[in-house]
Amino acid sequence: MERLQKLIAESGYCSRRKAEELMKQKKVVVNGKIISELGTKASFSDEIIVEGNLIEYQEKEYYLFYKPRGVVCTTSDDKGRKTVLDYFDDVQKRIYPVGRLDYDTTGLLLLTNDGEFANLMMHPKSKIDKFYVAKVEGIVTGDEVKKIKAGIRIDDKKIYPSRVKLKKIDKQKMTSIVEITIHDGINHEVKRLMEYVGHNVIKLKREAFGFLTLSGLKSGEKRRLTTKEVKQLINMAINK
Ligand code: URA
Repeated sequence: MERLQKLIAESGYCSRRKAEELMKQKKVVVNGKIISELGTKASFSDEIIVEGNLIEYQEKEYYLFYKPRGVVCTTSDDKGRKTVLDYFDDVQKRIYPVGRLDYDTTGLLLLTNDGEFANLMMHPKSKIDKFYVAKVEGIVTGDEVKKIKAGIRIDDKKIYPSRVKLKKIDKQKMTSIVEITIHDGINHEVKRLMEYVGHNVIKLKREAFGFLTLSGLKSGEKRRLTTKEVKQLINMAINK
């Protein structure tokens, strides 16, 4: 027997937090009874219905995807834009993205139907490094790099990137390339860090997530994570 919200997350239906919300909204029914008490335990042998959908155990799947520009990270889009799931038509399981990349950001995105894993990867305490390369407007100075490194307040939280490096400047085009590694996972974090020192991001690419890279993949391609990689990611997150 496990907590109901954990079972719902394990089924891949949604995150544990979302499952808790749905329980509070009385949208979860177990063996014909509405369950809104968060401590309630159940198992997959019970009939669990969430928002009218039967919840069942699913084999877990984990993918590494090279997200192209102009694709949203939601599972559906009310503006009819392309979503990352359009690249997973061949996958039967109900997978979803682990965190978000902006519509115009390219690069490494994980997708899974394992809610626990997704939560762990996204949790700020897991401190998994995400490595980005940003092309920005204007010439970035050493002082600005120091300022970002010293930490910047975003949404009442002080953000300390793990690493910031000015890679290249183009005085003719008045642009700079900055490498930046973050581990917090705040919305638009890289763009906001760069804007704080006066530079709009023109292009942004996530090149690594922990030890994972885009190696061997072209934009729009995906591969499964190996069992070893999944274990390694979990170990990294829980040993932080
Ligand atoms: N930071 C951003 O600003 N955008 C992303 O898509 C990812 C990190």
